Amino acid sequence: MRIPDITIAVDGYSSTGKSTFARLIAKHFDFLYLDSGAMYRGVTLFAQEQGLIAPDNTIDPALEKALEGLDLHFGQGTVLFMGDRNIEKEIRTMEVSSQVSPIAAVPYVRSWVDDRLHAFAASGRVIMDGRDIGTTVFPNAEVKVFMTARPEVRAQRRYDELVSKGEHPVFEEVMKNLQERDYIDSHRETSPLRRAEDAFELNNSDMGLTEEVAWAEGLIRGKFGLLDAPEEIG
Ligand code: CDP
Repeated sequence: MRIPDITIAVDGYSSTGKSTFARLIAKHFDFLYLDSGAMYRGVTLFAQEQGLIAPDNTIDPALEKALEGLDLHFGQGTVLFMGDRNIEKEIRTMEVSSQVSPIAAVPYVRSWVDDRLHAFAASGRVIMDGRDIGTTVFPNAEVKVFMTARPEVRAQRRYDELVSKGEHPVFEEVMKNLQERDYIDSHRETSPLRRAEDAFELNNSDMGLTEEVAWAEGLIRGKFGLLDAPEEIG
């Protein structure tokens, strides 16, 4: 049975597998998947290339004006483009990861990204992942999931992902980056990372992808009275 055209918000800490989960659910239920983190990563790459962020993370206030000329959009499904340039690979490097959280803490950056996310999602039937989707971007989302996993599991996943992309990460640096981002993301003033009160928590440290989809299917169908909602896995 086809589920209604709802909005699904997926939030959580770095490398908890939000995008893998959201992509699977999008495929399963025929939803549009939007990766809000990619947008923050795109703004970070732009700031770095324009020389608007220093190595010590000081952000040049000229970034606010410069954003007026920036075109970030998704093409070919979920690939991020800057103008006509495919930047999907560049936004996933450690270089971008190391400065994305300071950029994402800036209020005018957040409102610039939020405006675009709302426009991209205007057609509905969307699943979006990030840090503040269930709290700020789509506070009325019908289904909200908050993902967690043990830190060492998360660092290993991100390490493996970087290796598979041909990078040569140092495990301790990957772990440190996740911890720093989690700290900045949950302590910033504007839209900090936190679980929405009505979000279901999914701790996937010891779960496979098939189990995750089954859990979500139970949750979503339960929401529409097609099944009982599942217990939280925490
Ligand atoms: O993939 P991973 O979970 O490591 O991160 P991401 O989703 O690509 O997001 C990168 C960074 O963007 C996060 O660490 C946050 O600083 C920021 N972000 C945010 O502030 N709000 C969102 N809705 C999504 C991402």
